[in-house]
Amino acid sequence: MERILDANKENEDVFEESIRPSLLNEYIGQSEVKENLDIFMKAARMRDESLDHVLLYGPPGLGKTTLAYIIANEMGANIRTTSGPAIEKSGDLAAVLSTLEPGDILFIDEIHRIPKFIEEILYSAMEDYKIDIVIGSENSSRSIQIDLPPFTLVGATTRAGDLTGPLRDRFGIIFKLNYYTVEELTDIVKRTSRVLESPIEDEAAIELAKRSRGTPRIANRLFKRIRDFALVLGNGSIDLEVATLALDKLKVDKLGLDATDYNLLKAIIEKFNGGPVGIEAIASSIGEEQSTIEDVYEPYLLQNGFIKRTPRGRIVTEKAYEHLGINHQGGLF
Ligand SMILES: Nc1ncnc2c1ncn2[C@@H]1O[C@H](COP(=O)(O)OP(=O)(O)OP(=O)(O)O)[C@@H](O)[C@H]1O
Ligand SMILES: [Mg+2]
Repeated sequence: MERILDANKENEDVFEESIRPSLLNEYIGQSEVKENLDIFMKAARMRDESLDHVLLYGPPGLGKTTLAYIIANEMGANIRTTSGPAIEKSGDLAAVLSTLEPGDILFIDEIHRIPKFIEEILYSAMEDYKIDIVIGSENSSRSIQIDLPPFTLVGATTRAGDLTGPLRDRFGIIFKLNYYTVEELTDIVKRTSRVLESPIEDEAAIELAKRSRGTPRIANRLFKRIRDFALVLGNGSIDLEVATLALDKLKVDKLGLDATDYNLLKAIIEKFNGGPVGIEAIASSIGEEQSTIEDVYEPYLLQNGFIKRTPRGRIVTEKAYEHLGINHQGGLF
């Protein structure tokens, strides 16, 4: 079954694009980021310069790609996009860079996945708008320098810690995106409802927001499914009853935890006595990738106090035992 809570992208790009806000004032929440970005963009435009390079980081589905497109739109610039995994050879990056036009935005998604030996090309591109490329064959190769027009690199990553210091230092603007509040997510759900012309009652929007683990992508994806339930089982409009029914059927609990969260918490409790336990052991005991746990599941569980990180590994908290209805001796209440 499609995993609804996995905030990672799936083949839903068309759906996501259709509901993506395109202007800064349509972008809900992240008010500090918005305020600062607004100033920096205005200043760049007043000086008739390109915007400084921007690094956006935070968990999946919080609006990094959306913000990159908004920046391009607000700056009246063209956006070129690529991603860390797509850049395998230095030539791949040089090819993208050498076609940039003045003022362009270059969006590099998953920028932490650019191989380290290629990263260096970015240093001079970002700092001096120049790159050195090697041409010719092995025994008669020489290096030539190409000038680039002024451009803005917008990098996005779920793992700022995986970027090297020199790369991070070359971003003049660094924004961390945070999980959204229930109020903000409620606004996002209502906005989606308007865009899709699919009405939702306030109480239903709030319930959906509460169960979306602070993540707009999850809120939108759940909205889409609830809409199906409302269409087939109701009269098409989404009220609290149909929303609750759908969310329960989708096995999303009151706090937005899904089956994988339950497996993870139960594994730590039952197999590792509540921890501390290392991430590798957790990953293999529930059959998930370590990176998926670290990027998708753990941040929300940490933020909401279900698990804690200690120098010796992860431990589950009192709150988790309570939420799962398990007492410390391991039995049910
Ligand atoms: N602030 C916001 N206001 C309204 N909608 C938003 C906001 N942020 C994100 N969204 C919606 O959530 C969806 C996911 O956002 P986006 O693709 O930008 O996330 P991301 O941070 O790039 O995720 P990933 O790390 O997986 O690439 C978008 O389709 C967009 O419609
Ligand atoms: Mg993205």
